[in-house]
Amino acid sequence: MFSNRIAVLTSGGDAQGMNCAIATLTRLAISRGYKLFGVLEGYKGLYEEKYIELSLDKVLNIESLGGSMLKTSRFLEFKEKSVIDRCVENIKKQNFDAVIIIGGDGSFSGALALSKAGVRVICIPATVDNDLRYTDKCLGFDTAVNNVCSLIENVKQTMSSMNRGVVFEVMGRYCGDIALYSALATACDIVAVPEKEMSENEIIDKSLKCMKSKNHLPTIVVAEKQFDVKTLAERLSVATKSEFKYCVVGYIQRGGEPTVEDKSLAMLYSVKAMDLIEKGIFSQAIGLSGRSIISVPIEQALNSEYNFNYELLNLFYFLNE
Ligand code: F6P
Repeated sequence: MFSNRIAVLTSGGDAQGMNCAIATLTRLAISRGYKLFGVLEGYKGLYEEKYIELSLDKVLNIESLGGSMLKTSRFLEFKEKSVIDRCVENIKKQNFDAVIIIGGDGSFSGALALSKAGVRVICIPATVDNDLRYTDKCLGFDTAVNNVCSLIENVKQTMSSMNRGVVFEVMGRYCGDIALYSALATACDIVAVPEKEMSENEIIDKSLKCMKSKNHLPTIVVAEKQFDVKTLAERLSVATKSEFKYCVVGYIQRGGEPTVEDKSLAMLYSVKAMDLIEKGIFSQAIGLSGRSIISVPIEQALNSEYNFNYELLNLFYFLNE
């Protein structure tokens, strides 16, 4: 028996485009005769029964805002069976026909647990890390890369004027996408990504080579969790007898107005989510493959093959030989 009540939640690290997805889902749901409820603070709100009914007024002009108007959280307790069971009960109590989950891989794992417990779920990928491998793009990634690029360009100007080298640490968790795309787009000299490990000594050798062949101190981008960038910059200063600074780009990557690409994707993913719900197809993760909007079973999405763009990495190496 369908009640035409759907819930949506955002979970894990926020990502630009989440608000645009919430607004689009609201507009679509209302025009197709559903009531859409926003669960506050992700799975935590599902557990604590915190909901708001979404209306056109509530989502007016939020498409261009970063963050999530529903708020989000990392609710680690959601791994416990008793917590999942209570969430399932809460969903039943509210008569939600389906739950749309917007987030990254941790959120997808939660969605899979709900799906196995009989809840009808649909997932929309959103994480600046872009580390869900079944899809070419997760919401937030394009905006994060553009934020990083504009910061690198600013910092490069002062570094170059002062004859300094610099090491940037960018986000990505265990994925090198932000590092690779931003280093390439800003014509940096060295990039270190987890998909192709590089030692500190290799970075030093490449820096010395850059100083010799390009006659400037290198701009280096490293994906987080690989190095202590402060120590790396100190070692580079000693080894090159030059001054190196470091810059942890941090949360500035996760804020700001989503790019046109992130907004368009958020809208396309939302349309697909609503279409699947209307067709009665659940336990799916929506994504992008080339120019097509696709959906795959959540389990497959979580176990997909690695799709790191080694071609682009080789292009970077080629341009910096
Ligand atoms: O959202 C993903 C991410 O930004 C990672 O790149 C980063 O390691 C992590 O979140 C930071 O998490 P938190 O916001 O919990 O500090």
